[in-house]
This record gives sequence, C-alpha cells and structure tokens, in this order.
Amino acid sequence: MPRRRPSSHAWLQEHRRDPYVLAAARDGYRSRAAYKLLEIHTRCGPGLLRPGMAVVDLGAAPGGWTQVALQHVGSHGGVVAVDLLAMAPLAGATVIQGDFLQEETVVTVRQTLGRKADLLLSDMAPNMSGMKAVDQPRGERLVEAALAFAAAILKPQGSAVLKLFDGPGFPDLLRAARGAFAQVKVVKPKASRGRSPEQYLVCQGFYAPCVNLEGVDARHQAGIHL
Ligand SMILES: C[S@@+](CC[C@H](N)C(=O)[O-])C[C@H]1O[C@@H](n2cnc3c(N)ncnc32)[C@H](O)[C@@H]1O
Repeated sequence: MPRRRPSSHAWLQEHRRDPYVLAAARDGYRSRAAYKLLEIHTRCGPGLLRPGMAVVDLGAAPGGWTQVALQHVGSHGGVVAVDLLAMAPLAGATVIQGDFLQEETVVTVRQTLGRKADLLLSDMAPNMSGMKAVDQPRGERLVEAALAFAAAILKPQGSAVLKLFDGPGFPDLLRAARGAFAQVKVVKPKASRGRSPEQYLVCQGFYAPCVNLEGVDARHQAGIHL
C-alpha cells in the first residue's frame, strides 16, 4: 500500500476536523460546499432561491448545491445539474454528465431545461495543476462560459451565482456581469477556505439579452451558439 505523503496526511486531518465537513455529515449534505450556497442565499435575500424556480447548477457533483436548490424550489420547481463527473441521482433533479465547455453539453442542457431559467448556479472549478499560469485562465474560461450561458437562458430579472478565482481576469469578468445584471455582489462565504482565491459573484436582476465579454478572452463566445 503506498504511503501517504505528509501534505496529504495534513489535508486529511484538517478535512476530518473541518466544521463544515462535520455539519454536512450531520445534515445529510453531499459536500461542505452546500454551506456556501446556504450562506449566499441568507446574505443575498430570500429572492435568490424560491419555490417553483427552474435552476441550472453547473459543476454540480457531488451534489451539495443541488440539494440546497431542491430544498428551496420544492416540488413545483426543478434543477438541471451538470458535471464532468458522474453524480448520483437526486429526486427532482435531472443530472447531465458532460463537459460544459463542449457545445453538445450546452445544447443538451438547453433542451433538458426546455424553458427559461430563474437561476444559474456555477460552482465549476478546473482540475488544479498547481501552476497559476495554467489554472487561472482555465478558471476564467469556465466563468466566461457560465456568464454567456446565463445571458442566453435566464428570464428577465433572473439571477446567477458564479464562482470566480481572484486574478488578472477578475475585473473584466466583474464588469461583464455588471453590464448584464442590475446588482452584482462579490461574496466570500465563511465556508470558503481563507487560503482559497475563490469568490462568488452574486448577480441579480438580469436585464441584458447578451453579455459583453469584450476585454475578456471570449474564445467560446464563438464556440457556444447561444
Ligand atoms: C467544487 S466542485 C462542485 C461542488 C458542488 N457545487 C457541490 O455542492 O457539491 C467543482 C466541480 O466542477 C466540475 N467541473 C469542472 N470543469 C467542468 C466543466 N468543464 N464542465 C462541467 N463540470 C465541470 C468538476 O468536475 C467538479 O465536480
């Protein structure tokens, strides 16, 4: 049996003691990430998640955010959950396994949704290589794709919650979000580890039918036909 490296041992120790990991086990959530969305919902007003809403959850596996969304939208709402990885089913959610950067996945999500959505969630994070120069643009690319998708599928006044890593592309992505939503807040939930550069853009009051990604590397604007 291979020996665990000291760094992974320390990670495991930290993980076992993490209050959000313990709370997730107690409360029946599939991931500690559930508490990030719960806090965002509490901080950003009760309008974010409401009964009857149609929600798309990008980067959904293992399913903590989907569980939180399902609890709020109830039996009259629904969630389309998308991830590269397989995800165990959840009653009320349609799970799609696929790469959101591939057009075929985008088309499948739109067909499954079959109507405009009230809320787009994206907790997508790239597989970290540990090299900032590689990871940073990968993360930004996911946010660009999510933002362009939000503009195509949201109802007027719809909302989006998008994970974004602090870095050189942050100001342009924030500007693009502010051009499409009446209100955009940058939130760092308590459950988000302090050392993680992740933050969340909480965008409410969608009004622009297209997002201006000028200044942002908009490679997939061409690739995704929205
Ligand atoms: C932090 S995890 C999400 C945790 C989830 N929100 C929860 O509450 O359990 C990030 C997820 O993004 C997914 N992901 C990364 N790139 C993706 C892509 N191109 N398309 C779809 N999912 C992607 C990963 O597979 C991973 O499961």
